[in-house]
Amino acid sequence: MNILHLDSNHPILLQQLQQAGFANEEDFFSSKAEVEAKIHQYQGIVIRSRFKIDKDFLDRARNLRFIARVGAGLESIDVEYAAAKGIELIAAPEGNRNAVAEHTLAMLLSLFNKLNKADREIRSGHWNREANRGHELDGKTVGIIGYGNMGKSFARKLRGFDVHVLCHDILQGVDDGNARQVTLAELQQQADVLSLHVPWTPLTDRMVDADFIDAFAKPFWLLNTSRGKNIVTADLVSALQSGKVLGAGLDVLEYEKSSFEHLFEDGHVPEAFRYLLDSDKVLLSPHIAGWTFESHEQLAQVIVDKIKALFSGNSVQETEMRRVTGIGGIFFKSKDPKALVAWYARHLGLKTDAYGSSFWWKDADGNDCMTQWSPFKDDTKYFDPSEKAFMQNFRVANLDKLLAQLKVEGVAVIGEPERFDYGSFGWILDPEGNKIELWEPKDSAFQ
Ligand SMILES: NC(=O)c1ccc[n+]([C@@H]2O[C@H](COP(=O)([O-])OP(=O)(O)OC[C@H]3O[C@@H](n4cnc5c(N)ncnc54)[C@H](O)[C@@H]3O)[C@@H](O)[C@H]2O)c1
Repeated sequence: MNILHLDSNHPILLQQLQQAGFANEEDFFSSKAEVEAKIHQYQGIVIRSRFKIDKDFLDRARNLRFIARVGAGLESIDVEYAAAKGIELIAAPEGNRNAVAEHTLAMLLSLFNKLNKADREIRSGHWNREANRGHELDGKTVGIIGYGNMGKSFARKLRGFDVHVLCHDILQGVDDGNARQVTLAELQQQADVLSLHVPWTPLTDRMVDADFIDAFAKPFWLLNTSRGKNIVTADLVSALQSGKVLGAGLDVLEYEKSSFEHLFEDGHVPEAFRYLLDSDKVLLSPHIAGWTFESHEQLAQVIVDKIKALFSGNSVQETEMRRVTGIGGIFFKSKDPKALVAWYARHLGLKTDAYGSSFWWKDADGNDCMTQWSPFKDDTKYFDPSEKAFMQNFRVANLDKLLAQLKVEGVAVIGEPERFDYGSFGWILDPEGNKIELWEPKDSAFQ
């Protein structure tokens, strides 16, 4: 299976997919048109936010079986059209939900304690204690709209603060022990803090506007780590000016480009944004809530695990058979195997038994694997028909499939496979007459 990587990610993503038998190509710089011209060659795409995957792109991707987005949401992809074509969609919200929750909490505490404002003032020579008097979270009500991966993770972080946590979601019954699910009206009645964790959809686009804000019973603080276009910034600015919104922590902005890498399409700075820049009540960050060193690795790991769960095994082998997966053993002839084993134990510290020595290691999936080192009596018939003093043993993914394929390829296959509770064995000769043992192992039988 060929996978095209369109953005750079943590190196474990490529390494582990390679180890799992996928063929990977990186292309970080071609234009979308250039990628479209070759996309039919790939069965998988791994993308962050480089460009939109629309109908046109999907029509050209004739052989695509999955799109993996190294991030939480899938809104840069025409999800319905892709699903109708049977393309699997993979995202990784489990990889950055903790980061988003910690960032949201950091924004809330910083706003309540005026940390950024106070810091800026001290740096410009002002020691204003009264003007920087803070608020406490204790006893407040935090309302979370959108109680999915990020919303739930934020609620979990609030445990330990003495706050009431309410959640509102279009799905029923999503609440857990960390929040009580309520109607939007009740949330607007109770909340001192509103945190948005909804996707960007036709329902949430410009959801927080003047009417929505007016419906809150009390002045409140607003946090947005979801999507910038969920808020009408000009209406937020009016509410900050009137005091209905006490402060805002914004990790995402209405004006961001869809790739999230830049702010403005054309360099024009809107008036409402100028207000945000000048306001002491506003804390801004550049779409980095989910962007930590830890999430960089975790996002990659979640993507690898999901691709492997969907496509390892049969599907990978259909298009590209996995053959040798490691060294199973080194066997060689010896005049006196018993004495030799004792020599290796004494001088090289090998842990030996009557068969030689077993080395244990873990494969990329964390499975315990064994590799065997064994001297054989020099009159052994085990290396026949090879006359060499050595025999290699390779671990293989699927012995029967591999032997069938090797026969097709004209490789000399020796005898019939043999099956034991510790695995199946087959034998071939290389062009120089070296006998090679192929082993589809069941390592657990040795433990
Ligand atoms: N700032 C960042 O770095 C960052 C990182 C990760 C995710 N995000 C964003 O956070 C948001 C949430 O991500 P998630 O992984 O938790 O998504 P999710 O799908 O797991 O959860 C979203 C929840 O919102 C609910 N919802 C949808 N429309 C709603 C509506 N109109 N009213 C109320 N609830 C509604 C859904 O039913 C769902 O339970 C997304 O916008 C995502 O793009 C941002």
